Amino acid sequence: MTRPTILINFAISADGKISTVNRDPSQFTSAHDHKRLLTIRKQADALLVGRGTLEADNMSMTIPAEMRPARQPLRCIASRLGTFDLKHRVFQSSGGALHLLVTEPPEGYDPAPLEALGATIHLCSLEEFLRILFDDYGVKKLLCEGGGSLVRSLADLAAIDEVHLTWAAHTLFGGEDAPTITGGLNSHLPTSLTFELTHFEPLENGECFLSYHRTQPEP
Ligand SMILES: NC(=O)c1ccc[n+]([C@@H]2O[C@H](COP(=O)([O-])OP(=O)(O)OC[C@H]3O[C@@H](n4cnc5c(N)ncnc54)[C@H](OP(=O)(O)O)[C@@H]3O)[C@@H](O)[C@H]2O)c1
Repeated sequence: MTRPTILINFAISADGKISTVNRDPSQFTSAHDHKRLLTIRKQADALLVGRGTLEADNMSMTIPAEMRPARQPLRCIASRLGTFDLKHRVFQSSGGALHLLVTEPPEGYDPAPLEALGATIHLCSLEEFLRILFDDYGVKKLLCEGGGSLVRSLADLAAIDEVHLTWAAHTLFGGEDAPTITGGLNSHLPTSLTFELTHFEPLENGECFLSYHRTQPEP
């Protein structure tokens, strides 16, 4: 599969959850966590989120000017049906070029209003989208910032190379239906993915930065 190197970044609670049962915005972490996210963002040629995360977290998907980014990464948003809110902050803020993936457009789907906002619309599969980003837009490194549903799709494709976590041990959500980094815990991946721990950094504030790198080649 032709694709960029794919990183994912999440904050997880003590019990490994990325949000609440109701998919509320994840506000349980700290300024340290936010700074680390921005540092990882700076390495990326493109950012990718699911529409659920874009809306829950009201994201603009940019790197603040004070961090002096060499350039803003592409802003990629995945949707099955393509029902984007044209008034969303991401369409009103300046930043990297917007690339919207729509994998299951309804009949007669009209991308023109989104194109009028400067976005490029890709009507294709997630796998094909990753290839296009690599081949046509020079995206070598892509950071997926969630949510669990989208990362589950990447995991199904065995398309995850690095996992970066802020383990927020000070927060215990509980609730077996709260999502994890690969969404709900109701089914297995088609094949196991193996990672090794490459970074372990406990902080004074009850959080711990963790990084894992993939150890096995793609099937
Ligand atoms: N703790 C953290 O670090 C962290 C990070 C990210 C998110 N979160 C939390 O996670 C929650 C959102 O989770 P979620 O699972 O609902 O979010 P999500 O994966 O961001 O969004 C789900 C939506 O994304 C689109 N999508 C997902 N997989 C797709 C695929 N394979 N192809 C095309 N489109 C796809 C679909 O959009 P359509 O409905 O438009 O078809 C789907 O409904 C929020 O509470 C957020 O705060 C936490």
